[in-house]
Amino acid sequence: MAQGFKVRDLSLAGEGRMQIEWAERHMPVLMRLRSSIGGEKPLSGVRVAACLHVTKETAVLVETLREWGAEVYLAPSNPLSTQDEVAAALAEAGIGVFAWRGMTPEEYKWALSTVAGREPDIVIDDGADLHVLLHEEMRSVGEKVWGGTEETTTGVIRLRALEREGRLLYPVIAVNDALTKFMFDNRYGTGQSTVDGVLRATNILIAGKTVVVAGYGWVGRGIAARFRGMGAKVVVTEVDPVRALEAAMDGFTVTTMDEAASLGDVFITATGNINVIDARHMEKMKDGAILANAGHFNVEINVAALEEMSVSKRRVRRYLDEYRLPDGRRLYLIGEGRLVNLVAAEGHPSEVMDMSFSNQALAVLKIARERGRLEKRVHRVERSQDEMVARLKLETMGVRIDSLTEEQKLYLQKWK
Ligand code: NAI
Repeated sequence: MAQGFKVRDLSLAGEGRMQIEWAERHMPVLMRLRSSIGGEKPLSGVRVAACLHVTKETAVLVETLREWGAEVYLAPSNPLSTQDEVAAALAEAGIGVFAWRGMTPEEYKWALSTVAGREPDIVIDDGADLHVLLHEEMRSVGEKVWGGTEETTTGVIRLRALEREGRLLYPVIAVNDALTKFMFDNRYGTGQSTVDGVLRATNILIAGKTVVVAGYGWVGRGIAARFRGMGAKVVVTEVDPVRALEAAMDGFTVTTMDEAASLGDVFITATGNINVIDARHMEKMKDGAILANAGHFNVEINVAALEEMSVSKRRVRRYLDEYRLPDGRRLYLIGEGRLVNLVAAEGHPSEVMDMSFSNQALAVLKIARERGRLEKRVHRVERSQDEMVARLKLETMGVRIDSLTEEQKLYLQKWK
């Protein structure tokens, strides 16, 4: 049983429990792992601190770890992404959750410090804010951590930078880099939930709109494909020539943001980079253009510049702010430029989080089992784990595949 919690309203727990049960129904791989491994209590006595979006899918993960014997503490990985009813249900069930929707930056920092202060053995993160805290201000706690995991591209990039400087305090498993994570979660999960976020925030008709997608990585590919599927004309911007070429051959218009700025009705950033939409782009945008970000941090759209350029600002719908520029044009920003799919919608559907969080659970198990034996570096998820997760997922989807015959195996080994 974890020590302490802080949530918005504990009376929402019943509603949250229904949400969690709904997610459990759609996360059959993780639920199967939960029950097949559960009897052994492999995490008995292990303290886990997680910094994850507090959603119904995260609840299924942390309750799996608890079922395996762990004492679990949970902080949000974004001040605006917590689902208060889920947080309440988790608190009621004995998870040490410190999260509510709409935290101030100070409260967010406090939540991370609080879970770090519980002196975790294993740290799960999404974006590396908790890992960074344990490498700087709370280093003495970080020095005792057995190992950690990282859920997203941006977090892995930050941890690889720490590793390059030789400053990584504990081994980290880059869950994001599992094939059964990024090919599905980043692409199909963000693709669908970004459309969902834009619709909930604006309720615009997608068909016939020009949607500009910045970045054609796994997230950008998913977003571009889903908006095209709903009848949008999609324009892609990129800095990587190979990815730009791929976008062009996938049939999208590829151009620079300077060109695209005056074309777009909707702009979505998915680069993991800073100021991809900057003041000079906003200067060229049409009256009524809608801006959203799907990348991990709220740095992709230069919101400070937008604030400065504007003569007035008002909230016109839940999650939608209208900025009026001196020439009368109005630009609309969704969710303050934070992760549109988590702020204005519910994040990824459970079916993809099933794979991402099965990888997380297996990575936590690996750290516990190999405590002290893993090198202090960023580790990839093993191919065997990816194949296991994929096989289980296929099985639960009722999809059957062929296997190699002995003759085929031999044929593939020969060089002649
Ligand atoms: P990725 O590395 O596969 O793709 C990023 C792409 O952006 C690259 O192709 C890169 O060349 C391009 N890029 C970088 N700077 C650019 C610029 N100035 N203009 C245009 N393109 C630029 O990364 P991935 O996996 O697609 O992730 C992107 C971001 O989304 C990361 O911050 C990641 O953490 C985040 N993410 C968000 C999720 C969500 O739920 N909203 C889910 C998964 C990832």
